[in-house]
Amino acid sequence: MLWSFLLFLGAAPPLGVFANPLATKRWSDLVEKHSWAEIPRGWEYVRSPDPEHILEMRIGLKQNKINELISSLYQISDPKHDRYGKHLSKQEADALVAPHPDSAEAVESWLSDHGFKTDDITFRSGGGEWIVIPMTVSQAEAMLGAKYELYRHSLSSSYVVRTLSYSLPRELHNHINMVSPTTYFGTLRSMKATHFIQSNSFGEEKGFTLSPEAVPPSSCATQITPACLKVLYNTSGYVPQATDVNVLGIAGYLDEFANRADLQTFFTAFLPEAVGTSFDTITVNNGGDNQSDPGVEANLDIQYTEGMSFPTPNIYYSTGGSPPFNPDSETPTDTNEPYLDWLNFVLSQDTIPQTITTSYGDDEQTVPNDFAVSVCNLFAELGVRGTTVLFSSGDLGVGGGDCLTNDGTDTVLFQPDFPASCPFVTAVGGTVGINPEVAVDFSGGGFSRYFPTPDYQVEAVNSFLEGLGDTFSGLFNSSGRAYPDVAAQSENFIVIIGGEAFLVGGTSASSPTTAGVISLLNDFRLSNGQSSLGFINPLIYANPGGFNDIVSGSNPGCGTQGFSAGIGWDPVTGLGTPDFLKLQAIVSA
Ligand SMILES: *[C@@H]1O[C@H](CO)[C@@H](O)[C@H](O)[C@H]1NC(C)=O
Ligand SMILES: *[C@@H]1O[C@H](CO)[C@@H](O)[C@H](O)[C@H]1NC(C)=O
Ligand SMILES: *[C@@H]1O[C@H](CO)[C@@H](O)[C@H](O)[C@H]1NC(C)=O
Repeated sequence: MLWSFLLFLGAAPPLGVFANPLATKRWSDLVEKHSWAEIPRGWEYVRSPDPEHILEMRIGLKQNKINELISSLYQISDPKHDRYGKHLSKQEADALVAPHPDSAEAVESWLSDHGFKTDDITFRSGGGEWIVIPMTVSQAEAMLGAKYELYRHSLSSSYVVRTLSYSLPRELHNHINMVSPTTYFGTLRSMKATHFIQSNSFGEEKGFTLSPEAVPPSSCATQITPACLKVLYNTSGYVPQATDVNVLGIAGYLDEFANRADLQTFFTAFLPEAVGTSFDTITVNNGGDNQSDPGVEANLDIQYTEGMSFPTPNIYYSTGGSPPFNPDSETPTDTNEPYLDWLNFVLSQDTIPQTITTSYGDDEQTVPNDFAVSVCNLFAELGVRGTTVLFSSGDLGVGGGDCLTNDGTDTVLFQPDFPASCPFVTAVGGTVGINPEVAVDFSGGGFSRYFPTPDYQVEAVNSFLEGLGDTFSGLFNSSGRAYPDVAAQSENFIVIIGGEAFLVGGTSASSPTTAGVISLLNDFRLSNGQSSLGFINPLIYANPGGFNDIVSGSNPGCGTQGFSAGIGWDPVTGLGTPDFLKLQAIVSA
């Protein structure tokens, strides 16, 4: 992780080597930053870690002009605004997210007081607002008034070293957004990968007859292939033209490896013209690429992004942070912070894929608010750079399990998903069936408790809420960011895994499918000399006619029937499923 650190050493103000006794008082007045009322559900205390265990501490400094970045994002994404489509370069975006010199000075003085030097920083983002500095558990505990413990996740048996609370010197609350790893327990293993193998197809029913013949639409009711999706979403007749500049990216985590041999088998069966072509894999933060270990999620993602967008180049990002890790071994890092590491990597690049899809998420309430806001702002930065960021909306309807809150009150509330609940991403829900397409019953949807309703969706959401009346009153926050924004097919996708065909479902299928359609729209614009679409939500809420409205089905959960799909936007299928031809007319303006 040395890429931009090297550039920055020269520019950064030097840190003092000697602790200053007066400064010590300045940094000892600790005020709580974030705490949990209880050990996050699913985790259990194991024991105290070795005090010498190394944590790769990520510090997010307050971005001095973040409000200007967000207002720029809204202007650049508003089709009626003069700035529409005028995305920012890396240098322009970095200038907006750079910390105020006072913030940089204060943080460096704090680090210096604890004995760190500039050389100890192993990563500094382009704007200088993110730094990574390794430190021992005992150093982190002293600096953050924290108590790190080793915790184990009961289901996945992954281990993390985390604290139930952390503090910062009073003065630094104005200068630091978040420090990690601290209270975010969500790890690679416990993050919900929103895919599942449909049980009736795993094992005995594997091994479909693969035929290169065009799939007759009637078979699409039981088995989805790229040909089905192209017909459903009207992309069949479109030939990509801008393949020299347009790129579709897939963010992968959880040691999910996209398999190149399986893609060839998939191409042979369903897209013969693509045989012999492949995708690029970029590994981030020691991510792997084990071609003997094909991932269900990874193969689903790459086979359907390729299936929809071929011959558009695709990039699969494999981000590491690999559990299980032994907290007392010499393994020097505890890096289960996947979004942060991937985002900091991709934002450090001069060019970024114009469309990126991600099929992973967490319950919003398990992500500390400061962490969620910081990550959400990084998605805004991707938008301002011209990238459309798509996320699966989740596979648990309005919430899975008992839906109890983790604030110590054990209240039942609908449980929104993050990052789908971030207003700067496009969240994709699920449908099933053809003629008509209806909402699938697991389609994640609802209202954020962290992020307010953004202007672009106020009208659509209010209209839904009026129809809803008092139903589920108190179970969700009607002034929160509502999702999903759109939807696509989510069941019975044929995926090749280890040479054999399986049926796979989940909103994990919907997001890559939609990303494929958006990527073709980006191709269309780029080949016409226009900009990429970037953050697409303001455009699509202003043009709901670009989508097939889904008007039946619901997303039960938390012991309720869940929300119902109906005419107009709803928190089950959003605006509906994409109609490429209608969207093409909309985005050509
Ligand atoms: C790759 O995956 C295979 C199959 O799971 C496993 O046996 C092998 O050890 C893995 N290789 C590495 C280098 O992790
Ligand atoms: C509801 O959402 C708003 C906007 O995000 C937030 O300010 C408020 O705290 C939330 N209320 C509850 C009870 O979660
Ligand atoms: C897209 O295809 C559907 C049939 O799958 C059709 O009903 C619809 O009119 C098409 N849209 C356009 C703009 O042609």
